[in-house]
Amino acid sequence: MTKKLARGVAVVGVGMSKFGAFPDKTSRDLFVEAYQELKTSVQKGFNPNDIEAFYMGNFSSDQFERQGHLAPIVASWIGLSPIASVRIEDACASGGVALRQAVLGIASGQYDVVLVGGLEKMTDLPGAQVTDALASAADTMFEIPAGFTFPGFYAAMATAYMNEHNGDLDALLKVGIKNHVNGALNEKAQFGQTIPDVMAGKVAKAIQKGLPVPEWKDEMDFLRDPKANPMIAWPLRLFDCSPVSDGGAAVLLVAEDLVAKYTDQPIFVIGTGQASDGSLPERASLSHVPSAVGAGEQAYAMAGKTPAEIDFAEVHDCFTIAEIMATEDLGFFKPGEGWKAAMDGKTARDGEKPINTSGGLKAKGHPVGASGVAQVVEVWKQLHGTAGARQLPGTPRIGLTHNVGGTGQTSVVHIFERRF
Ligand code: COA
Repeated sequence: MTKKLARGVAVVGVGMSKFGAFPDKTSRDLFVEAYQELKTSVQKGFNPNDIEAFYMGNFSSDQFERQGHLAPIVASWIGLSPIASVRIEDACASGGVALRQAVLGIASGQYDVVLVGGLEKMTDLPGAQVTDALASAADTMFEIPAGFTFPGFYAAMATAYMNEHNGDLDALLKVGIKNHVNGALNEKAQFGQTIPDVMAGKVAKAIQKGLPVPEWKDEMDFLRDPKANPMIAWPLRLFDCSPVSDGGAAVLLVAEDLVAKYTDQPIFVIGTGQASDGSLPERASLSHVPSAVGAGEQAYAMAGKTPAEIDFAEVHDCFTIAEIMATEDLGFFKPGEGWKAAMDGKTARDGEKPINTSGGLKAKGHPVGASGVAQVVEVWKQLHGTAGARQLPGTPRIGLTHNVGGTGQTSVVHIFERRF
């Protein structure tokens, strides 16, 4: 049975910090940046005293910053005490799940105005410790003892996918190229560079140091060069991976009956879905993410929309293969067709189904607990026609976010509609 929200919920404001590596900032500083921007985005302004609850996605401030119990501490930092403040942990889906809990909190009638946050400060630790901390989101009994960390898990999924669908590994490189093109147009992105920009930087560095100047024919040649784009876990190379990142994002949700007080340009949450799954060894196939299929089906049913009616989507491209699988799991392309769509440019900004116009996790950055909330920031911008140089033509009406935790033990999907 399709469940509808008992009360409508709208997004009336959004904000995010710049994503990147910020050794001189704490997670609190990053969230203040996001919250300050959110405040200026609410068309008619708002009184922070209106906020009744704070749901914050955060994977592991305990491991990354030695700071547990983050939600009430951040709430206090931005002057929201004594409202109910809840930290949500569902690995890399923490932000999306926090959004869903806030939506359900308003739909239930318990709250009218809720702040959603997403936050992670990952770069204080050395790389090996970051990898170790992230690995605690995997199944430590059945996945980790096999010798994998996250690049390895997604490498196994990529291998299974390409084998099952007779795919071309170049499709992975095409996803990276596209997301860097989009990220270069996003002032908040960690990597504000296209692949040709990166190539030019490396040439300039070699000249400056008096080293042999690399000669690549084109982007694909660069990305196939093991020195320029080293293998991380076959077949995934450096430019197939999302980076290690710091960043925060915030979204203000209000009940439908209060929207007019805050804005005449609301974005409604018309669908929400969430599903779970066991670990990789329990799955019949590694070439798709069953929980993402389930979460998508729930969200589509609630929204009364089909995949064809989604104008664009922000999907969880923690690794390039994850974007290809997501475009199939969400029904944009048939199983086995996602890699071809990537090759043919169908997911580019001028393609039939634009994916990750923000640059995605790959180029925008992936401060894990913040990613699911930052996806909503991009949807808001595209639906308001304020995405600047990366704005989709014709101001789209329907956007979707897809956020995955672990190897797909959690997936959460939201669908948004512009109602102005
Ligand atoms: N894409 C492109 N370039 C990247 C990059 C990425 N993901 N990560 C780092 N770089 C670049 C850096 O900017 C730096 O460039 P420079 O030499 O020109 O300054 C260079 O690569 C080395 O950076 P460093 O931080 O030392 O890289 P690293 O080897 O320690 O880390 C990865 C690279 C891929 C291992 C790391 O980014 C990673 O673990 N990513 C996956 C994170 C993850 O699993 N998230 C959860 C997903 S479920």
